Amino acid sequence: MTLFQKSNIKSLVLKNKAVRSATWEGGADADGIPSDKQINLYKELAEGETGLIITGYIVPCTDGRQTPGQMMLKDEAAVEVYRKLTDAVHASGAKIAGQLVHCGGQSSERMAGRKPLAPSAVEAPQYSAVPEELSTEEIIRIKSAFAETARFCKEAGFDAVQLHAAHGYLMNQFLSPALNKRTDQYGGTLENRARFMLEVLAEVKISAGADFPVMVKLNGSDNLEGGLDIEDAVQAAVLLEKAGADAIEISAGTPASGKDGAPVRTGVKAGAGEAYNLEYAKRIRAAVSLPLMTVGGYRSYGECLRALEAGMDFVSLSRPLIKEPSIIKRWESGNTAPSDCISCNGCFKPGLKDGLIRCVINK
Ligand SMILES: Cc1cc2nc3c(=O)[nH]c(=O)nc-3n(C[C@H](O)[C@H](O)[C@H](O)COP(=O)(O)O)c2cc1C
Repeated sequence: MTLFQKSNIKSLVLKNKAVRSATWEGGADADGIPSDKQINLYKELAEGETGLIITGYIVPCTDGRQTPGQMMLKDEAAVEVYRKLTDAVHASGAKIAGQLVHCGGQSSERMAGRKPLAPSAVEAPQYSAVPEELSTEEIIRIKSAFAETARFCKEAGFDAVQLHAAHGYLMNQFLSPALNKRTDQYGGTLENRARFMLEVLAEVKISAGADFPVMVKLNGSDNLEGGLDIEDAVQAAVLLEKAGADAIEISAGTPASGKDGAPVRTGVKAGAGEAYNLEYAKRIRAAVSLPLMTVGGYRSYGECLRALEAGMDFVSLSRPLIKEPSIIKRWESGNTAPSDCISCNGCFKPGLKDGLIRCVINK
């Protein structure tokens, strides 16, 4: 087993099995256009031999926004700037996927310019206020926005897109029995709760073309009483495979799941708490045959190999690549010392403050 083997997602050929999991960097301007400094982070990741780089979450429309500096790609005019981003990655032979998200009830009213929209108007710890229930017309509008943005991504030179259905955002809100109380075709059974995600997938495939890879980031569990559980997640993965998803990345947790269940778990370091979502990913592996990625707490090369041995096709990392953008290149050169990321989450703070994430432990 090795991380350094050429791999495929549909017709997309990747130089290895190392993925940069989607990571918001901050840095985009008020219109959601990435800055040159931000593009430089991508260049560094590509030069560091990360085979596939998944962008920070990109919104397809203003009302899905959450964080300052979050990227947005909603009109043709932005395509040329995004091409600078994809060119910077391709220059080193890496590939790039745009992660598409609508933050739903987790949107910020300040960033979105309106009261957040969600499947149901419920009070929830992960919502700052009770959101407004989406009408059928708004669901149709948001699905079209995803489809259009995926087409813009293709025009801008992205190699794939990833739909963000994890971490408590809109698609995850539809999947969650705790947040989705709808009585129409989008609520109730798992098939109904998965409908929004599957319809977005179908529209994206029509808009971007059947040959354009579409991946999904899915929670193996919300790690939350009443939320999406592993049984539902397995079924959702089966439905995604049937609907033509080209790869699934398994994460877990929402902002309401608490420290031990969070998607971006603190306190993990080499030899302690690594690979924290792998058991969910293994359950999903047993049910589907499409390419699978696992994310969450990979710090040691040996843990990455253990994931591949457990049947994963790719291993995704986020914080170790903030600490050391060239860690994959270092591992490939034979120096397989683990990442010294201690998962303190200090990297978020500069992004919220002056516009770009960085490791605060690094000198
Ligand atoms: C600064 C930062 C920003 C993140 N932004 C996103 C994002 O935009 N989309 C996403 O799906 N996950 C995001 N994540 C979560 C990561 O993709 C990943 O799932 C999580 O950090 C666990 O992996 P790790 O232990 O390798 O960091 C972010 C994580 C960090 C630290």
